Amino acid sequence: MELVEDCGGTSALAVHVEVLVKPRSTASKTDVRMHVVAFLDHHRVITGNHRWTEFDEQFLRQNVDSVAIADPERGTIDLKGCNLTVHIFTLNNDGLSTLNLEEDEELSAANHWLLPAAEFQGIWESLVFEDGVKTQLLDYVSTTIFFSDKNVNSNLITWNRVVLLHGPPGNGKTSLCKALAQKLSIRLSDRYTYSQFVEINSHSLFSKWFSESGKLVTKMFQKIQQLIDDEDALVFVLVDEVESLTAARNASHAGTEPSDAIRVVNSVLTQLDQIKRHPNVVILTTSNLTEKIDLAFLDRADIKQKIGPPSTEGIFNIYMSCLGELMKCQIISPRQQLLTLHELETISFMESNVSQMSLIPSSCFISRKSKGLSGRSLRRLPFLAHALFVKVVVLEPLSNNLPPAATLSPSSDITFFCSLDSNCHAGKVSGGSGQSSRQRARGQSKDGQLCMRHSATL
Ligand SMILES: Nc1ncnc2c1ncn2[C@@H]1O[C@H](COP(=O)(O)OP(=O)(O)OP(=O)(O)O)[C@@H](O)[C@H]1O
Ligand SMILES: [Mg+2]
Repeated sequence: MELVEDCGGTSALAVHVEVLVKPRSTASKTDVRMHVVAFLDHHRVITGNHRWTEFDEQFLRQNVDSVAIADPERGTIDLKGCNLTVHIFTLNNDGLSTLNLEEDEELSAANHWLLPAAEFQGIWESLVFEDGVKTQLLDYVSTTIFFSDKNVNSNLITWNRVVLLHGPPGNGKTSLCKALAQKLSIRLSDRYTYSQFVEINSHSLFSKWFSESGKLVTKMFQKIQQLIDDEDALVFVLVDEVESLTAARNASHAGTEPSDAIRVVNSVLTQLDQIKRHPNVVILTTSNLTEKIDLAFLDRADIKQKIGPPSTEGIFNIYMSCLGELMKCQIISPRQQLLTLHELETISFMESNVSQMSLIPSSCFISRKSKGLSGRSLRRLPFLAHALFVKVVVLEPLSNNLPPAATLSPSSDITFFCSLDSNCHAGKVSGGSGQSSRQRARGQSKDGQLCMRHSATL
């Protein structure tokens, strides 16, 4: 049975509604909010991850791209009586710019985005983690701001504004940092006029000149300080592969240039201690190699969150989003409705025309074979399956629009199968012969391999 979070009780559930306004809209936020609230009044029980993009009402059609309840960690929400917080935003299309430390330096020390950035949109929803990980990070940042608001004495209660996400490669650490910053820039848009995201290019801070690297780190943080000095801005700083800037100082004695590496770590620690006094900054760091990180840095991280490979449910959700995308792009056709794991459980995984496609990723075989694979490997799989088993469709000149696959003649239909070894390499191709229709319908070959029905021009 699914838990429906009823907001009719004593403490109303806070539900965040994110409203993406069209770039050319001139409507006031007050008007948009009023129309969105009226629109939501017509809806009651919805899933925690719901997005509307089509509207009957003319005002919404003209001014709003989407209305989203983006809270996938909640199952179903009864909107009646909920405390709706409506966030109205537009996306920044400027893309990335670079921050250079010296005017004549070619190597950029950092990449910089204004948030909410068009590039980061949708990352949050695409990431699938164990329950609570995303919410915990949102709550963490809210708490840092809340404690600053309340003037909590940081000599008595310590927080450093540093988050460390660690774990094996390809499981969404960097993406989660970007998504978190994007989400907070939307949710805190009433409080901060704008948000910035600075991704430090750690390697550029290691100078070719001996003993200069520590100074480069200090210069980098001075640049960041300038951004933070604007109290209307919320600033996120990402240090990917933080072990390169914070290598354990005892280990670096063994290197060829020990004092340079030590100077870098010392500078980073000093700068972090200075920066943490500002309420409008969050330092997000990632690492695959926590054992190489200096203990003094580790001690400064308020949250050390391990991000491991997706769970079985996560694998299902990732494959479902892949299937959805392949259908949207008409690589798999016809487009079918996809069911959530909960909906499949409700119908006891019964096979029908409606559930057929959704049952493919939920099969025991697929989840067993995929267990332990990184999110990156899982998301590469449909591409590999196509590259190795469907082969290349005829590529049309760019000016010609490809006809939708659904309109192709039935004779061009092919069925392709792929099997995976534990390293996520696609295996041999199986033909469609020798299969029972039931196996084909379930999307499995004779020996249980993944099968996708595919229409393409060959
Ligand atoms: N948990 C996940 N859910 C959905 N997609 C994921 C997940 N983990 C990884 N991915 C996909 O893999 C891609 C790579 O993720 P990302 O670069 O954030 O991983 P990482 O942990 O930072 O890897 P690395 O340690 O190699 O830097 C993402 O763009 C995303 O599409
Ligand atoms: Mg990364």
